[in-house]
Amino acid sequence: MTGGGPWRPDNHRALDDASRRVLLQLLRETAGLEFSTDTSFVLERRLQDRLVALSLDSFDDYVRLLRSPAGRAELEHVLDEVTTHETYFFREEYQLRAFRDELLPRLHALAERRRRMTIWSAGCSTGEEVYTVAMLVDASHLFDDWNVRVVGSDLSRRCIERARRGVYGPSSFRSMPRDLLDRYFTLDERQHRVDDSIRAYCAFFQANLLEPERHLGVGRAEAIFCRNVLIYLAEPARRQVLELLFARLEPVEEQLEHLPAGRLG
Ligand SMILES: C[S@@+](CC[C@H](N)C(=O)[O-])C[C@H]1O[C@@H](n2cnc3c(N)ncnc32)[C@H](O)[C@@H]1O
Repeated sequence: MTGGGPWRPDNHRALDDASRRVLLQLLRETAGLEFSTDTSFVLERRLQDRLVALSLDSFDDYVRLLRSPAGRAELEHVLDEVTTHETYFFREEYQLRAFRDELLPRLHALAERRRRMTIWSAGCSTGEEVYTVAMLVDASHLFDDWNVRVVGSDLSRRCIERARRGVYGPSSFRSMPRDLLDRYFTLDERQHRVDDSIRAYCAFFQANLLEPERHLGVGRAEAIFCRNVLIYLAEPARRQVLELLFARLEPVEEQLEHLPAGRLG
């Protein structure tokens, strides 16, 4: 055993300061992502496999590739590797309870005449949040013959592909109510698959929240979930994303004021 820093395998590539600065700037500019200096070691660890896959000897070479015209596709890999995709069904139960018991009846009252509702999960990762919302809407029976869409978007193409498949392993079910698991999933080769009755409401697309024009297809949403996403963004990017979300939100408060008195109980 020798003294000194942490143990590293022989082929470990160290992230030098100049490359670190370029990487941090690229992540901030393209996706608004913020890494403080003391968390940027995460970049060094998570990007090792990319350097090996590309047979590159140093981060200096890697950064040069990322800045070249051929680097765009590689940048997608970087974003995918360095972002946190942690998610699971029925995450933050207290928020979902408020959504089910307080918000859904209000949305029902507001949109009753047009019988159409869109809910958007911005930064949906692998889709568990989208399907959770769709299950809550379905189980409420308030919207049975309505045109309901639950739309999920994420920066990561890989996550969106997984979301579209709708097949999940045990770690996605750590907070899943048993009755809803039995009701909305089928067991498929030891993995659980979301039922088609729920999948029929749901749609997914890949987009960066810093690119508003990529989100026009969402149309107006009656409710937007954007959970555990802004925490990873730098302050200017947070503002930019909030502006986008507000621009896409139906002006519900305004509509609430125009409802007959006492309508909402
Ligand atoms: C921790 S997950 C949150 C998933 C889900 N909302 C939840 O709370 O369980 C954060 C997701 O935000 C996505 N994300 C981060 N920056 C983004 C950006 N600029 N545009 C779109 N998605 C982004 C990441 O790809 C990641 O999948």
